[in-house]
Amino acid sequence: MSAAIAAMVTAVVGVLGTLFAPVITSWVTKRQRTAEGQVEERRRLFEDRRTAYTSMNRATGHFHTLLKDALHRMRDGVYTDDDRAQLEDGRRDYRDRYAEAQMIVPDAVLAASRELNVVLAGVDAALKRIDRGLPREGETAVQLLLDLKAADPRLGAMHRSHARGPRHHRLSTAGCDGAALSAPVPSRYVVTPCTRRVRTAAARRRTSLMYYRPSDGPRQEEEPVSADSRGVLGVVGTATDGVETLRTGLVEPALALGWQVAVTLTPTAGRWLRANGELDRLESLTGLPVRDTPRLPAEPRPHPVADCYVVAPASANYVAKLATGIADNQALTQVSEALGTVGVPVVVFPRINAAHARHPAWEGHLGALRRAGVSLVYGADVWPLHEPRQGPADRELPWAAILANTAVRAD
Ligand SMILES: Cc1cc2nc3c(=O)[nH]c(=O)nc-3n(C[C@H](O)[C@H](O)[C@H](O)COP(=O)(O)O)c2cc1C
Repeated sequence: MSAAIAAMVTAVVGVLGTLFAPVITSWVTKRQRTAEGQVEERRRLFEDRRTAYTSMNRATGHFHTLLKDALHRMRDGVYTDDDRAQLEDGRRDYRDRYAEAQMIVPDAVLAASRELNVVLAGVDAALKRIDRGLPREGETAVQLLLDLKAADPRLGAMHRSHARGPRHHRLSTAGCDGAALSAPVPSRYVVTPCTRRVRTAAARRRTSLMYYRPSDGPRQEEEPVSADSRGVLGVVGTATDGVETLRTGLVEPALALGWQVAVTLTPTAGRWLRANGELDRLESLTGLPVRDTPRLPAEPRPHPVADCYVVAPASANYVAKLATGIADNQALTQVSEALGTVGVPVVVFPRINAAHARHPAWEGHLGALRRAGVSLVYGADVWPLHEPRQGPADRELPWAAILANTAVRAD
């Protein structure tokens, strides 16, 4: 090729480049916008699904509680029109949320809810027959309470499968990139499709990944759950260091052991956990509202009746109030009542320092709680006391001891 031809080719390429540069730039921008739009759309779908999961979870738990309360009242002969009206509201809300979720929630996640729905619908129908004075043979309030109790594992399974479902989707719909992994994700959770970027980001965060396709549904074999339900565990958190680990340290392991968990916080702890997003996460996980205020007298009880309470971490302030019978917030009201209720174990972990323990009233408070049958997770072996602001900064709360104590007390 002569120098003249080479110069001409260079000139033509230059002219074409100049002519087509805006076209190419606009094409690239359009593709980027389309890709961003798709990610945004997937995010929106994920949010819709999550909202449907959460609403249905909450409505199911609430309807379950209303049925239980109604049956207790029927059994005791004090079932009133108000109870009927409350149950009807819960029934309607449950039906709406269930219908909505059926349209939007993946089938595999709905499986656990469907099984529970069969039980709830059956109990509800029998309750109405009893209420009308036309029960079938063997249909009594006591029998229906037993049927509901037998369905507790299904309720737990539903909460867990719903709690897991959105997390799987959170990763996959967030575009499966490193940014998605910067969200707080339990280490065992899972992405697909798994790109090299995901693996690199996961390795950097020491997150172990397992891969699955969303079409497989939740991985049932991953369920860290014992088959039998232990009942309802009332978890109470107060405003101390470490309360931010309540979910990972206590609530998740308790759910895995088969408890249904209902969380209540002191008003200050409620403010703290609302501010750092933990309160929302606890609600999604447990399928129940986190309580930090008392209900209005006309409102239904948002939690099922607890079979056992664990207060962890308990501030020095909370311990003093509980021991002296002060019940000026929801977290104290519940546990104060449990102290006087036969057959409801109470476990308390005082998260205190050496100065709190030297307060002249402290030993008296512990004595009062012990006499009331409280199981204290306390002593140098589980929580050595340090002077204020001198304890190790990264000290974890003794969750294993707290959980073990709870299991022993409740069994
Ligand atoms: C950051 C921070 C950490 C605290 N840690 C503790 C603690 O470990 N133990 C404790 O008894 N009080 C602790 N307190 C003090 C309590 O929050 C305070 O006594 C409060 O009134 C307790 O309220 P509650 O018992 O209603 O949750 C802490 C306060 C702050 C601001």
